[in-house]
Amino acid sequence: MGSFGEAPKGNAKSGEKIFKTKCAQCHAVEKAGGHKQGPNLFGLFGRTSGTTAGYSFSTANKTKAVNWNENTLYEYLLNPKKYIPGTKMVFPGLKKPQERTDLIAYLKSST
Ligand code: HEC
Repeated sequence: MGSFGEAPKGNAKSGEKIFKTKCAQCHAVEKAGGHKQGPNLFGLFGRTSGTTAGYSFSTANKTKAVNWNENTLYEYLLNPKKYIPGTKMVFPGLKKPQERTDLIAYLKSST
């Protein structure tokens, strides 16, 4: 993965651990994983927010219409409710830049 902004380099291995403890209860990354409380994340990069087939997104997530990439995910995951006011994703955010880059590196390799 390329570098972005002032962000540290991502480690997909530690990102996987973060995903399993903080995201996996609501999201699957593999195509066959289906939707949980949150949408399936397969094919996330390059997709517009709120467009995954078969999942009922909030209006907030759809009207945001952001293109998911390293930069937008980096900002979103810091504070989802600030980035998309009205989102139904209940997650406080990851404050540590390293945790976010690691997680994004994992998402890039897994989705
Ligand atoms: C308590 C359940 C829950 C947890 C924990 C959670 N999410 Fe979500 N997530 C959701 C829901 C529900 C949505 C749909 C939001 C909406 O429609 O407003 C969502 C939406 C998203 C989206 C936007 C998808 C799109 O196509 O627009 C991304 C990306 C995402 N979550 C990533 C993550 C990551 C990464 C983590 C772990 C740091 C995480 N989520 C933790 C429930 C959760």
